[in-house]
Amino acid sequence: MEETISTIRLLLRKPEIHDHTAVYEHWAREPEITKYLTWKPHKSPEETRSFIQQCIKDWENETRFPFVICLKSTKEVVGMIEFRIDNFKAEIGYVLCKNYQGHGYMTEALKKMLDLLLSQEKIYRVQAYCDIENTGSFRVMEKAGMKCEGILSRFAIHPNISDKPRDCYMFSKTK
Ligand SMILES: CC(C)(COP(=O)(O)OP(=O)(O)OC[C@H]1O[C@@H](n2cnc3c(N)ncnc32)[C@H](O)[C@@H]1OP(=O)(O)O)[C@@H](O)C(=O)NCCC(=O)NCCS
Repeated sequence: MEETISTIRLLLRKPEIHDHTAVYEHWAREPEITKYLTWKPHKSPEETRSFIQQCIKDWENETRFPFVICLKSTKEVVGMIEFRIDNFKAEIGYVLCKNYQGHGYMTEALKKMLDLLLSQEKIYRVQAYCDIENTGSFRVMEKAGMKCEGILSRFAIHPNISDKPRDCYMFSKTK
């Protein structure tokens, strides 16, 4: 997969270590934005630095491909989107900072990533899931052309809500 992806308004690129400051300040420390994610808000910029270091390592090891999302107009880092590949399937996850939510940015990024992944010969299915209460994420997947396949009971732990596994909606797009 290419390290830089372009959409109309966005540039998606492999993270660089200096991104940690923006990632920390824009969302990693924010309880509201991380509410439905699988990790707790970061407590310091150093924690985010280790996270970005891990992102870069995961690219090198080809286990996970996280991209920072930048606005083309200002080059500002406003979010992240990533995919992981498991044989013929890929799974996507994403986050966008609060100030830029509701402008269709994640729908734009997700659509592009779905197209790129499904254009790979070996990938037949791209999936993503969200907490049953995460209405914004549900809507983004719907708008990006994914199909809701139903509810997976007790599928994921979202530790900012509960330490018990939660029900999630599973979405997919296939070829
Ligand atoms: C979910 C998220 C990625 C959406 O990004 P975004 O760029 O704002 O998404 P878009 O603007 O493309 O579309 C959002 C849609 O969801 C709707 N929406 C957003 N929050 C909502 C809410 N709390 N309740 C109902 N609808 C909501 C918007 O109205 C919009 O739909 P519309 O175009 O029909 O009006 C962003 O809110 C986010 O990062 N949230 C925190 C992290 C997260 O939960 N990530 C997903 C984990 S599965």
